[in-house]
Amino acid sequence: MNNSAVTAVPAPQEPAVEDFAGDALAGLSAQPKTLPSKYLYDTRGSELFEAICEQPEYYPTRTELSILQDEAASMAEAVGPRALVVEYGSGSGIKTQRLLDALPDPVAYVPIEISHSALNASVAELATQFPEIEMLPLCADFLQPVRLPASERPAERVLIFFPGSTLGNFDTDAAVRLLTTMRTEMGDNGAALIGIDLKKDPAMIEAAYNDAAGVTADFTLNLLDRMNRELDADFDRERFTHRARYNAIAGRIETHIVSDCAQTVRVAGRPIAFTEGEGILVEYSCKYSQSDFAAMAHRAGLVVTRSWTDADRRFALQLVEPLPE
Ligand code: TRP
Repeated sequence: MNNSAVTAVPAPQEPAVEDFAGDALAGLSAQPKTLPSKYLYDTRGSELFEAICEQPEYYPTRTELSILQDEAASMAEAVGPRALVVEYGSGSGIKTQRLLDALPDPVAYVPIEISHSALNASVAELATQFPEIEMLPLCADFLQPVRLPASERPAERVLIFFPGSTLGNFDTDAAVRLLTTMRTEMGDNGAALIGIDLKKDPAMIEAAYNDAAGVTADFTLNLLDRMNRELDADFDRERFTHRARYNAIAGRIETHIVSDCAQTVRVAGRPIAFTEGEGILVEYSCKYSQSDFAAMAHRAGLVVTRSWTDADRRFALQLVEPLPE
């Protein structure tokens, strides 16, 4: 492992401490009930999410990986040499490996990730594989603008990588705010490569969020177990059901945890009453047409300069760059 690259990182900025109890009680007291989706990803949840990505119905991960592989040369040409590659969130690393492999001589890799352990794990792995790329991990919330660290070797441009259709987990206004943050961070000469799930046959989209093996249901219901463990709650998992439906008007999957009966549950000492069939909204997954995405990018001062997609047009990687003044 190239230890000199790893120890060259700046002191991590400590992100604000999460308030799971406060967020959960606020969401469960609201009408309609909601829970922030970031709490799905505890240790068990992250394991289950990795398993979702391997389900036959869950096409986005494997489709995005195939685009990264098939279009590597074209992406490398569009991005150019000596990029400083910034990633929002640090995923399993496979997509990052494909991108870093494809690009000509990237100078540094800057993952921005709120979880220390996830950040360290992804950088340790990548540092061994790419000893010539400087690793500059940043422990921060990517929704807040950050000052990017300077690389030892000068960078030609900044490239922000945001795969996984994670942009679709934000509503339109929040997605535009995030794109605006990217626009600021990339500078006038920068670019972003963003993975989006495309609109298509609703049956195919719904199947991806309702896999037959029940892994996605396990993943969402794990949030109830997590509240039992960490917030002294008494949810009975058998009395709730995972529901993911495609809302064709809004163009998004809406994932709820639905109460099977009228019941009252205690969470952190507070009673939370459910009516029969009442849902807790845990996630939106927006699907876009090419023009939906272009319109959002435009609102953020960005323009789509390249788009790579698979033969069935299920998923797209969009290259966006600053709109000319
Ligand atoms: N970014 C992923 C997506 O929207 C996350 C995800 C996949 C997800 N399956 C889920 C989130 C089920 C909540 C519930 O596709």
